[in-house]
Amino acid sequence: MKDMSLLLLLSSLFCCSTNAAARLTVTPSSSQVFRNERVSLRCEDASDGWTVRRNTSNEKRTECEDWGRSAGSSCNISSMDPVDSGVYWCESTEGSTSNTITITVSDRSVSLQSPLLPVMEGDDVTLTCRTKMADPPPADFYKDGVSIRNVSDGHMTLLHVSRSDEGLYKCRVQGNESAESRLSVSEKPTTTMDPRATGSDPSVSVF
Ligand SMILES: *[C@@H]1O[C@H](CO)[C@@H](O)[C@H](O)[C@H]1NC(C)=O
Ligand SMILES: *[C@@H]1O[C@H](CO)[C@@H](O)[C@H](O)[C@H]1NC(C)=O
Ligand SMILES: *[C@@H]1O[C@H](CO)[C@@H](O)[C@H](O)[C@H]1NC(C)=O
Ligand SMILES: *[C@@H]1O[C@H](CO)[C@@H](O)[C@H](O)[C@H]1NC(C)=O
Repeated sequence: MKDMSLLLLLSSLFCCSTNAAARLTVTPSSSQVFRNERVSLRCEDASDGWTVRRNTSNEKRTECEDWGRSAGSSCNISSMDPVDSGVYWCESTEGSTSNTITITVSDRSVSLQSPLLPVMEGDDVTLTCRTKMADPPPADFYKDGVSIRNVSDGHMTLLHVSRSDEGLYKCRVQGNESAESRLSVSEKPTTTMDPRATGSDPSVSVF
């Protein structure tokens, strides 16, 4: 009976793992990009046949060939325009999809670079204020409209973030402001068992 419960436990742990899906990455790693900026999109961990697609306000599920320059699983846009604002993702020929990244192209002269992947409680998170100039500028960071930190080199790191760090962030350089980006913090996944696997079913409960 003990072996049986171990078997059930193992099968519940391994039955539902899926093949690792491709992951979309963007360079520069920012959801806010400047007009005329060059952007590279890549499907990482992708086998053949994954391509970058997007939805914008006037096109749906279009492939890189229609709006960028593609080679295998990568796609470049040499000069971003506000009509390139939209949701981007990688998709396999079978229709599997990666994470999505929302990119907004703006005419502002300042942009806020925030993490594109989910942030977990306890992570350190760096927000970067960018201008079209190469050097990171002295910048003021705001959370929910309130000035929270002034930095000399464009970067603000939040240590060990928690739910209370969630909010709308923006930055300001010499009187010019970025658009706002939302920072969301996810609960750390716990290792506790699914209660259905340990609790009510008599065949797998207490011995
Ligand atoms: C893209 O647009 C299609 C058609 O409107 C929609 O079904 C799909 O969910 C959208 N995909 C994303 C990632 O927003
Ligand atoms: C996209 O740009 C990257 C870096 O600039 C380059 O390495 C890559 O070959 C380019 N890909 C295409 C399809 O032009
Ligand atoms: C702020 O905006 C003004 C007007 O658009 C522009 O001339 C100036 O270069 C900007 N400053 C920075 C630091 O981007
Ligand atoms: C940052 O500087 C601005 C003006 O230079 C000031 O109004 C603001 O209070 C400062 N913020 C912090 C958190 O020190």
